[in-house]
Amino acid sequence: MNPMDTELHQAVAAWDETGWPRPRVVLVSGSGLAVDLGDPGGRESDLADWLPFETHQIEGHPLKVQLLTADPGRPVLYLKGRLHSYQGYDAHQTVFTIRLAAKLGARVLIMTNAAGGLRRDQRPGDLMLIRDQINLTGLNPLRGELPADWGPRFPDMTEPYSGRLRALARDIARDSGIRIGQGTYAAVAGPSYETSAEVAMLRRSGADMVGMSTALEIIAARHMGLECMALSVITNLAPGVGSGGVSHEEVLQEGKEASARLQSLLAALLAEVSLIESKRRPRA
Ligand code: HPA
Repeated sequence: MNPMDTELHQAVAAWDETGWPRPRVVLVSGSGLAVDLGDPGGRESDLADWLPFETHQIEGHPLKVQLLTADPGRPVLYLKGRLHSYQGYDAHQTVFTIRLAAKLGARVLIMTNAAGGLRRDQRPGDLMLIRDQINLTGLNPLRGELPADWGPRFPDMTEPYSGRLRALARDIARDSGIRIGQGTYAAVAGPSYETSAEVAMLRRSGADMVGMSTALEIIAARHMGLECMALSVITNLAPGVGSGGVSHEEVLQEGKEASARLQSLLAALLAEVSLIESKRRPRA
């Protein structure tokens, strides 16, 4: 068996040993964007417990796993914090939890991230649904020989972000009086923020926001057939778009300020998506 497949099988077996039900929906929160979605009732552990490799933590990323069962029968796997390639993880390690969720039977992936705004009409604190992505990380989690049952060798990426889920999120935002835009997310390797020249290039390439995460997970999730949605919080304007520079502290602070809106939007979205998913048959 492929070693990565063995690791995944072991993680699935470890999950089943906990007695936790298997999730149909997985939510991943980004830098400083962890929200409180209810008491996991003891179903919480360190993300590191699930990974077959060493992890290290950075500020703003608590790296916890929760199984939310507020709605019995419709459990949601909540990954509070993610791994980034700039921390030194390779592309396969970065997406391990997504593949685990897929193997556990998750059908829908929802992600949040912090991003720099590339448009002059954006303001820190704005919420943007990701409509499409440009993967500029130089990495791809599908490189190498992967087990055929994970997904196709050359997956279609015509609609990486589900139109159906975006429409649902927009409806919920409108009903809750939350302003939300849509745009293309450029994923860069980081960890240095962009130069003004890089920002000018990204703007010309049609990107609306830039960040250091999400794109690899979306590729892995689409490969395994998950329906995906992601939401960026504009935490700063990129150099040359706004005045002044970018700092990690500013990114975390703006994320915190957006978290109330994010929390109500995600809670409503999860309830809606879980309900829809519970009516669908499990994937074969
Ligand atoms: N660039 C890249 N990643 C980011 C930014 C940014 O300006 N803000 C938050 N994450």
